[in-house]
Amino acid sequence: MLEVKNLMVFFENALAINDLNIKVHGGQIVGVIGSNSAGKTTLMNTISGLIIEMRIKEKRKGGERITVYGDIFFKGENIMEIRPSERVKRGIVLCRERHPIFPESNVMDNLKTAGHLRKNSEMTDAIDYVFNLFPALVHLKSRKAGFLSGGEQQMLAVGMALVAGPTCLLLDEPLLGLSPLMQTELMDAIQNLRNEVGLTILMSEQFARPVLPILDYGYILENGMLSLSGTGSDLMDNPEVKSAYFGI
Ligand SMILES: Nc1ncnc2c1ncn2[C@@H]1O[C@H](COP(=O)(O)OP(=O)(O)OP(=O)(O)O)[C@@H](O)[C@H]1O
Ligand SMILES: [Mg+2]
Repeated sequence: MLEVKNLMVFFENALAINDLNIKVHGGQIVGVIGSNSAGKTTLMNTISGLIIEMRIKEKRKGGERITVYGDIFFKGENIMEIRPSERVKRGIVLCRERHPIFPESNVMDNLKTAGHLRKNSEMTDAIDYVFNLFPALVHLKSRKAGFLSGGEQQMLAVGMALVAGPTCLLLDEPLLGLSPLMQTELMDAIQNLRNEVGLTILMSEQFARPVLPILDYGYILENGMLSLSGTGSDLMDNPEVKSAYFGI
């Protein structure tokens, strides 16, 4: 469904992504695991197209040069030059790092804003689905989003991405700042999305331990380069992964 081919991303002369190849088949949960500055967010921004806007903005202010080489195929079509909003319409929806929500709006309005590109009936169904997936949000409907806890905000952010109607959901470090209990809840919800709706999910994380068990396939990213790949259970059993990510 999604294929990243020979991707290279430079910020000025610094290489953030180095000849990366990734495949995500329909209905899979695929993970990109890497520590700080491995290139996770750059990858997500490139797949979602946000990097195109960053590139234009930087150029306008005479700032750093962002250069992207390589190809991204979605459902067989090269989407490299397609605008981010058009990619959303085609089903590629990114839930960005550190749950960006509208803090002054309430939970319901945040969800509605996320669904503004969709038909009303589809949006209502999607919002119902989000409340089913995250029952903790139900009694927070009219609460200002800025007053939610970090975990609640993260659920809202994932909920907003879902209301936008993805066929391929991109999650950039969804576990960041969550308690172990919240992490488990979110991982369960992500598995439900694959198992019940057949959603295709690409997620990035620094913490391998809670993520590897639910992955159909995973890639380990180091300094923008692929160091290892395999099924979730292969990676869990790999001695290098164990020593680097599990401390054993
Ligand atoms: N706008 C930018 N300008 C210059 N360098 C950047 C920019 N964005 C990212 N980089 C650099 O690219 C590399 C990859 O950064 P990226 O944010 O993709 O990493 P990450 O894996 O998401 O890290 P983290 O876990 O901290 O979120 C880093 O060396 C970073 O400094
Ligand atoms: Mg990041």
